[in-house]
Amino acid sequence: MARIPLMAGNWKMNLDHLEATALAQRLYWALRDANFDYSKVEVALIPPFTDLRSVQTVTDADNMAIVYGAQDVSVHAAGAYTGEISAHMLAKLGCSFVVVGHSERRQYHGETDQEVGEKAKAALGAGITPIICVGEALAIRKAGEHVAYTLAQIDGVYAELGPTLAPATTVAYEPVWAIGTGEVATPADAQEVCGAIRGRLAALFGRETAEGIRILYGGSVKASNVASIMAEADVDGALVGGASLDPAEFSKICRFAELIA
Ligand code: PGA
Repeated sequence: MARIPLMAGNWKMNLDHLEATALAQRLYWALRDANFDYSKVEVALIPPFTDLRSVQTVTDADNMAIVYGAQDVSVHAAGAYTGEISAHMLAKLGCSFVVVGHSERRQYHGETDQEVGEKAKAALGAGITPIICVGEALAIRKAGEHVAYTLAQIDGVYAELGPTLAPATTVAYEPVWAIGTGEVATPADAQEVCGAIRGRLAALFGRETAEGIRILYGGSVKASNVASIMAEADVDGALVGGASLDPAEFSKICRFAELIA
C-alpha cells in the first residue's frame, strides 16, 4: 500500500490569528507558484487552538488543499474541565489531525502513554487522525536504549487503541534531543527507529496494518536535510517545528521530492 507523505507544520505557541492567516496564505501562494501537487504530498498546519477558526476560514475561502489540526485534545468528551478542548470541538472546526503526546506535553504536563492513548482514542472518536508522538531523550540514546524506550511508548499508547483503531493513526518519531536544537538525527538514525516502530506495529496488528500507518520523523527538519531523511524506507513525512514558521522554507520542505538529486 502506497503511503502518501505528510508534511505537518507544528507552530507550537507561535502566531496570533492574524499572523496565522498571513502565514497560511503565503504558504499557499508559494506552493501554487511551484505548481505543487497535493495528491503527492499532504500538507498540514498545526496552529494553536486560537488560530484554528482563522485557518479554517482562509483555507475554505481560497479553496486551499492545505489541511490543518490541533496540538492537543482533551481525553474528555465535555463537562467541567476548565481550559480543555474536546475532539468534537476540533472536528467542528474542520480539523483533520491532532498531535498527541508531543514531548513538550509529556515533559511540561506529565502526560503518560496511557493518557496519550486516551487522547488518540478521543480524536479517533470524532473522526480526527491523531499524530502520536514518541521519542527518547539524550540520556536514553547515549545509553543505547532508544529503540526499546520508543517501542515501549508505542506499546503503552496502542494498548488504549487496539486493532480496530490502530489503522487510522499516524506516528511521529521525534528524538527529544533533536527538537529545536538544530541537532538533526541522521537519516540512518531516523530509519532505525521508524523501521523498528513499523516492525512493532506489525507484531501488534499485522503487516498490512503496519504498512498502511504513516510514520513521520520530527526534530530540526529543514529544507537542507529533509530529502535525505525522506529517502529512508520507513519515513513517511515530517513533523516540522521551527522551520514551519517560515513559509518559503516550509514550502521547500513540502517540495522535498524536487530536492532529491
Ligand atoms: P523542530 O520541532 O522542528 O523545531 O525541531 C519539531 C517538533 O517539536 O515537532
